[in-house]
Amino acid sequence: MKVVNVGLIGLGTVGTGTLRILQRNAQEITGRTGRDIRVTRVAVSDINKPRDANLEGITLSTDPLDIAHDPEIDIVVEMVGGDSVAKDAVLAAIQHGKHIVTANKALIATHGNEIFTAAEKQQVSVAFEAAVAGGIPVIKAIREGLAANRIEWLAGIINGTCNYILTRMEQDGLDFSNVLADAQALGYAEADPEFDIEGIDAAHKLTILASIAFGIPLQFEKLHVEGITSITIEDIRFAAELGFRIKHLGIARRSESGIELRVHPAMVPADRLIASVNGVMNATLVQSDAVGPTLYYGAGAGAEPTGSAVVADIVDVVRTLDADSGSRVPHLAFGTGTMPEQTIVPMGQIETAYYLRMKVINRPGVLAAITRIFGDSDISIATILQKGHGDNNSEVTIIMLTQQARESNLEQAVAHVRELDSVTSDIQSIRLENLA
Ligand code: NDP
Ligand code: HSE
Repeated sequence: MKVVNVGLIGLGTVGTGTLRILQRNAQEITGRTGRDIRVTRVAVSDINKPRDANLEGITLSTDPLDIAHDPEIDIVVEMVGGDSVAKDAVLAAIQHGKHIVTANKALIATHGNEIFTAAEKQQVSVAFEAAVAGGIPVIKAIREGLAANRIEWLAGIINGTCNYILTRMEQDGLDFSNVLADAQALGYAEADPEFDIEGIDAAHKLTILASIAFGIPLQFEKLHVEGITSITIEDIRFAAELGFRIKHLGIARRSESGIELRVHPAMVPADRLIASVNGVMNATLVQSDAVGPTLYYGAGAGAEPTGSAVVADIVDVVRTLDADSGSRVPHLAFGTGTMPEQTIVPMGQIETAYYLRMKVINRPGVLAAITRIFGDSDISIATILQKGHGDNNSEVTIIMLTQQARESNLEQAVAHVRELDSVTSDIQSIRLENLA
């Protein structure tokens, strides 16, 4: 049986999960590929660190380029993260004719256009299923399973750390900062957890999903990105009272004016399937013209769930090793230059409904002044609630739900309301996404 030699760059959470699966399920994997897949080299930063994996027969080094340049290696699997060492190693490996598998969404979202161009020139594959939604085969589903469809929109819970934090805040009444440390200890968070909680990681993933869904180039810099740091337990409780749950979503949508690309917390009706996705689980809902809605659900982070996607990519690459490069599935689903240019819709032009929370001084005319400002900005109020029955001149919380409104109008109204003497807090604003 022919042997395929694999070099792993990185043996942390994902690298260890990948190696364990390759070793434990070697017989099944050989049965599926007809090849004997051997990990012969691994690069790490500290070769003396104890490892939770069997390293027998594997040469360790600290220089990823040793693997990228090794003529015996057929497939390089990059699981280092970041975009410096990883980018150099991937581009060097491509130049040396290696196929690439990577779990690195930051690398693909920010340098993917350059990497795919280099790979096409060298006629090698770059596979990146693990870069989006951990173990869920959502790239394959959109790129291949939905290939008949015109995709209208997709919305996903695509950061396991954020979903884990929001779930623990809701279920255990814990504060944001207490829960982040747990997500880190479980191996879900990025090396710099700001990438998770500020929405950057989800934005990397949405960049990739939007590209394969709509045939647009990877354009991370055009996304609107918000994280979950402003969400309080109070918001989570008010959301529940109003029949919603707060989720951190990545949304890509075709509209008449172009394509919306946005990552932010959103209130989702509690009876939507996606609202029940808890903990580190991820889910992506895709609305397509022929099949209608489809939902992809599973573990969005962690050693073996992510390793599962990495190994599936290795299997895919091995299966096409002898195939003509032109017969492989295009990296970003569409052939280069086959799709028309598309405008990315400026955030001010999007339309959605909003939840607003603010503190005001309880005195006659306050609500009338607030609702007048919203009316003047062409925004209809759907619900208004006052929390607390304070005496005149005491502070109370006002919760409002608006009807569908233009984001720029909402921003303008919020700025004017904030100027009222009777409004004593910042105004929390969370978008409502119906996802119907
Ligand atoms: P870890 O931090 O756990 O592992 C990183 C690995 O890279 C370690 O083995 C480290 O070595 C090695 N490394 C770091 N710098 C170098 C270097 N200069 N030269 C050689 N080796 C180096 O990261 P994860 O496994 O969590 O993540 C890896 C990638 O997978 C990232 O792109 C991440 O975004 C992505 N990902 C992670 C998921 C998760 O659940 N954690 C899920 C999906 C994707 P050493 O072990 O010696 O420190
Ligand atoms: N930090 C990422 C997350 C890992 O929490 O989703 C999986 O991509």
